[in-house]
Amino acid sequence: MKALVISRLGDPGVLEVRAVPEPVPAPGQELIQVEAGGVNFADIMSAQGGYPGTPKPPLVAGREFCGIRLSDGQRVMGYTQWAAFAERVAAPAQLLWPVPKEWSVEEGAAFPVNYFTAYFAYWKAGVLEPAAGKAAPRVLIHAVAGGVGTAAVQIGKLLGAEMYGTSSSEEKLARVKTLGLQHGINYKQRDYEEAIKDLTQGEGVDAVFEMLGGEHTAKSVRCLRDFGRVIVYGAATGQPAQLDARMLYAKGASVHGLWLTYLSAKRELMNQAWKQLSAWTAQGHLRPVVGHVFPLERASEGYRLLLERKNFGKVVRKFA
Ligand SMILES: NC(=O)c1ccc[n+]([C@@H]2O[C@H](COP(=O)([O-])OP(=O)(O)OC[C@H]3O[C@@H](n4cnc5c(N)ncnc54)[C@H](OP(=O)(O)O)[C@@H]3O)[C@@H](O)[C@H]2O)c1
Repeated sequence: MKALVISRLGDPGVLEVRAVPEPVPAPGQELIQVEAGGVNFADIMSAQGGYPGTPKPPLVAGREFCGIRLSDGQRVMGYTQWAAFAERVAAPAQLLWPVPKEWSVEEGAAFPVNYFTAYFAYWKAGVLEPAAGKAAPRVLIHAVAGGVGTAAVQIGKLLGAEMYGTSSSEEKLARVKTLGLQHGINYKQRDYEEAIKDLTQGEGVDAVFEMLGGEHTAKSVRCLRDFGRVIVYGAATGQPAQLDARMLYAKGASVHGLWLTYLSAKRELMNQAWKQLSAWTAQGHLRPVVGHVFPLERASEGYRLLLERKNFGKVVRKFA
């Protein structure tokens, strides 16, 4: 079968469409005929050799997909660690979910990573169930116009959150405002720490969703109000978080880690998350934002969009 293979570690050029052997499902796995795959920042890091636990190349890339479960013919969307960008994938049965009837295959492929990650970010921030009589939680979402960012805006709107989001582009911010973002901050034009100070009258936010790393972890802590939380879930700058933990004392602040790879093995947690996400979806509140669709053969273009910050929402690979 045809698959997108990381032939050796490196930049997007190392991706090759090749013929590989058919997967054989292990116990607890299902075989899926893949129709589309969602592209993640983690795919780029895997190809570059910077993603923890990546097997040695050559390996088939891709961690989420939409397709037909061959055992019952149902269209499902699913999550796996590798091997999703292939005509067929053997994937864990408990990480497959039915695709809402009105969604396209591209939308199905754009769901698992972004929506579970965004949901768990709110969970870790402690704002999933706002207390009665309490003011709306304020959340700063970095890369608000990206895959996880647009999912976080849709969920934040449902939670009644006051959302602040960063992006490098006015155009992207304008588009994400149509999803419900109230305050866009163009970090090319304005320091986001200053902007948060101004927009919150010096008080700060309850939570920051931080996926940049480097200096941004400490900067994000400085955006917090009393008892606020920074949810650390990525390092798009390529730099490890720089943080002197002593700065957390002052406001009783905390920093929390989030890794979907790890959480996806916690069946009860995943089931709880799906229960809420599927209920919101059935009510018509969630719909993945697919910004770009590429055929498998043009795989590296999708990776480059993310690297060059040119994507809006999700990049999806479509199979013929
Ligand atoms: N821990 C987890 O389980 C988990 C799960 C999913 C994703 N993540 C992380 O979440 C982040 C977003 O992932 P995604 O797949 O949804 O990507 P994405 O947000 O759709 O795309 C990346 C966006 O990040 C912004 N960005 C800011 N600084 C950047 C830099 N130095 N290099 C490249 N992009 C930069 C760009 O948007 P602007 O130009 O608008 O700033 C870019 O479009 C990544 O860091 C990823 O590793 C973590």
